[in-house]
Amino acid sequence: MRHAAPRKEPGLMTSQPISVSDLREKARKRLPRFVFDYLDGGAGDETALSRSRQAFRETCLRPRVLINSATPASLSHRFLKRDWALPFGIAPVGLPGLVWPGADSAFAAAAEAAGAPFVTATPATAKLESMRKAAPSSAMFQLYVGASTEITEDLIARAEAAGYESLVVTADVARPGRRLRDLRNGFGLPLTYTPRLLADLVRHPVWSLATARSGMPLLANLADYARPGAGAETLAQLMSRQSSGRLDWQEFSRIRQRWSGALVLKGVLDPEDAMRARDAGADAVQISSHGGRQLDGAPAPLDALRKIRDIMPKDYPLALDGGVRTGEDILKALEAGADFVFLGRPFLYAIAALGPRGPGALFGMLAQELESAMAQTGRRSISEMRAG
Ligand SMILES: Cc1cc2nc3c(=O)[nH]c(=O)nc-3n(C[C@H](O)[C@H](O)[C@H](O)COP(=O)(O)O)c2cc1C
Repeated sequence: MRHAAPRKEPGLMTSQPISVSDLREKARKRLPRFVFDYLDGGAGDETALSRSRQAFRETCLRPRVLINSATPASLSHRFLKRDWALPFGIAPVGLPGLVWPGADSAFAAAAEAAGAPFVTATPATAKLESMRKAAPSSAMFQLYVGASTEITEDLIARAEAAGYESLVVTADVARPGRRLRDLRNGFGLPLTYTPRLLADLVRHPVWSLATARSGMPLLANLADYARPGAGAETLAQLMSRQSSGRLDWQEFSRIRQRWSGALVLKGVLDPEDAMRARDAGADAVQISSHGGRQLDGAPAPLDALRKIRDIMPKDYPLALDGGVRTGEDILKALEAGADFVFLGRPFLYAIAALGPRGPGALFGMLAQELESAMAQTGRRSISEMRAG
C-alpha cells in the first residue's frame, strides 16, 4: 500500500522568514555586498565569530518533564534596577542607517513597544537626544572613550541632559578591528564610487533607491564636533580617534565618579577584569567579544561567561552578547549565568530583510522561541531560574 504524501502545514508554505538564518539570507540578497559584509563580517579569519556560535551549538539544555506549562512562562526580568518585559535587547551597533535608512528609529520603536532595552551607539546614525525621545523607557547610551577628553565629557553631559539612566562603556576597541571583508571591499567613508561599487548598487536597487531618497547616513552624534559642513571623511576620522586605546582603569573610575546613573562595562572576557570592574563601581559587566569584530583570538563569550559567573557574587549582574541567534540560545546564556542577553547582527538582518517592521517581528519571534524552550525545560520564569 502506498503512503499518502505528507500534508503540508499551511504555516510552512510561506516564504516569510521564520528564523534568524532566514532573515540573514534575505538581508544578504537585499543588501549591496559591501553593506552586508560590513554588518556580517568579523576580524581576521573570523575565528572568534564562528567560535561564539560554536559555543552555543555545543551546549545542550536540560529538559525537565511533568512541570505544568499550561500557562505561558514569564519572560519578564529585572536588570539594572528595573523590570523589563523580556530578558534580551538590542546591542549597540555603529552605522545602522547604512544597513537600512531609518534603522535607528525602527530599533527605538521596536524596543519601546517590546519593553526591552535598546542601546544606541556613539557611532549611531541618529542623535542620542532623538533616540532618547523615541524610546524614553528603553534607550541606553553606549560610549566610546576616545582620544579627546572634551568629546568624551560632552557625550556624557549630553546623555545626562537627555535623561539617559544607563551608560554602557565599551572596553574592547583599543585599536580598530582588522576586518578583512571591509578591507577587500575597499569599504570606508566616504564611499569611493569604483565601477565594482556602482555595479553592486545597480544589482540592489531597493537599498540604493531607499538610500538615495534619505541621503547617505552620517555619524550624527559626532557631527557637532567636526567643523561646520564637514563631510563623511572628517567624521570617520573623528570616529577612528574614538578607538585610541586611551581608556584605562583610572579613566573608568573617573567616569564612574562623573556618571550617577547605572554604568555597564562592555567587552569584558576575563574573570579578573570582571571582578576589577565591579570593584571600580560598574553596576554590571557585559561579556562580549564585540561580535568577533575586534580580536580574532578572543574566546567565545558563552565560555567566558561560565568562568566569570563562577568567581562573581551570585547577585552581581552579568550581561552577554555574541552569537545569540535563537530563543534557545537566550535560554542557554541565562542557564550559564547571564542576567541579560543582547543581540547585534540579528536586528540588522531583520531591518534589512523586512524594513521597519523587522525589529518588532524579531522581538516576537525570539520571545516565542524562548517561551517554548522554557516550557520544554520546565522553566516557569527567568527570576526563578536565576534564583537557582
Ligand atoms: C555592524 C556592527 C557594528 C557594531 N558597532 C558597535 C559599536 O559601535 N559599539 C559597540 O559597543 N559595539 C558594537 N558592535 C558590537 C555589538 O554591540 C555586539 O557586541 C555584537 O554585535 C554581538 O554579537 P552578535 O552580532 O553575534 O549578536 C557592533 C556590531 C556590529 C555587527
